Amino acid sequence: MATAVNAELIGALQYEEMVTISPETRLDQLVSGRPWMARILIAFGIDWPKCGPFSLSNSCRGLPIDVYDLTKVLGRVAQGPEGLRNLSLGELTAHIVQCHHRYLRRVLPRLLRQMEEVTRRYPELLPLQLEIQEFAVRANPHMFREEQVVFPAIRDLNQEPNLSGHLARWIGSLLREHDSALEHVSALRQLTVNYQADSRRGQDYQKLMAALADLDDEMRWHMYAENEILFPAALRAMQAA
Ligand SMILES: [Fe+2]
Ligand SMILES: [Fe+2]
Repeated sequence: MATAVNAELIGALQYEEMVTISPETRLDQLVSGRPWMARILIAFGIDWPKCGPFSLSNSCRGLPIDVYDLTKVLGRVAQGPEGLRNLSLGELTAHIVQCHHRYLRRVLPRLLRQMEEVTRRYPELLPLQLEIQEFAVRANPHMFREEQVVFPAIRDLNQEPNLSGHLARWIGSLLREHDSALEHVSALRQLTVNYQADSRRGQDYQKLMAALADLDDEMRWHMYAENEILFPAALRAMQAA
């Protein structure tokens, strides 16, 4: 599953143009030719594409986002998601929490309500509802464990080397949970035939499909950042310690 995540994002690497990003950079300039940048803006809760003509600092106004942290991450990934490798372990764990975990906490409750309403009208969607419920139930304790136990141990690897004995086991357990989460996402994709809009069904259904497709896209980035970048880097640091 991790290979599929990797392969889907590798296409982004063909964009080689250099870019300087500051809080005054306009969002449409950021995203032009770099569609993966839109993914990060959306995950942070920025109203893309509506905020396209606005600067990063204006778009972050009123949101719980440090525009300088966001500028730094965007600068790293301007040439492709592999740029996340240039963040330190501490910066990377903070980015995952602020971007991907915050996205799930913001979006999942709304998605569950949407799903419930649409399933009431179309009871044949019950298997889809069960998949998303199962995904959501597992997501919260998983993120909690990452934020409270595993990410701090990774971040403080140098100060607390005795935790490294547990770290490989903890990471192994998280990776198994990722496989299971990605199986739920794959089931969502199959049950909806790739989140196809259905003109016979109402607007609520189309909105639900769009929200599920967004969750699928977001999860690939989240898993890519953890499976392909953070965890291998933590294991390398642990061996070097
Ligand atoms: Fe995570
Ligand atoms: Fe995770």
